[in-house]
Amino acid sequence: VLIPLTRIDHVGIACVNLEDRISLYESAFGFTVVSREVNEEQGVREAMLRAADAPPGSPCLQLLESLRPDSPVGRFIARRGEGMHHIGYAVTDIEKAMASLRKDGIRVIDERPRHGSMGASVAFVHPSSMGGVLTELVQPRNERP
Ligand code: CO
Repeated sequence: VLIPLTRIDHVGIACVNLEDRISLYESAFGFTVVSREVNEEQGVREAMLRAADAPPGSPCLQLLESLRPDSPVGRFIARRGEGMHHIGYAVTDIEKAMASLRKDGIRVIDERPRHGSMGASVAFVHPSSMGGVLTELVQPRNERP
């Protein structure tokens, strides 16, 4: 089944200290921070970074620091340590994408889309359906159907 997927939107990376990781990616690769947010609902402080010379719409790194030990990212770090946490795919219509995946028997965690970074609507797909990869659907703010 085809879902209206446009690109890899971002790669999410769990870290213990957000500022340290931002510095690392800035100094090692010249990434620049395009957005910083606190998402209380998901229990994270986060930053979106993009390669310095990347064209608009290029994939980002999403660095995630847990606000509390029992948040999803906090539990991930306790269990597996820092590292790659999820991949985010941009879709033009998140409701359609969720319905399409569910029809294929793929386990979509969120009942309905919730608030993600930079005004996006997001929903997570369970890693058990995706070969161990936590997968996020992202409908960016300016890409409403
Ligand atoms: Co994400």
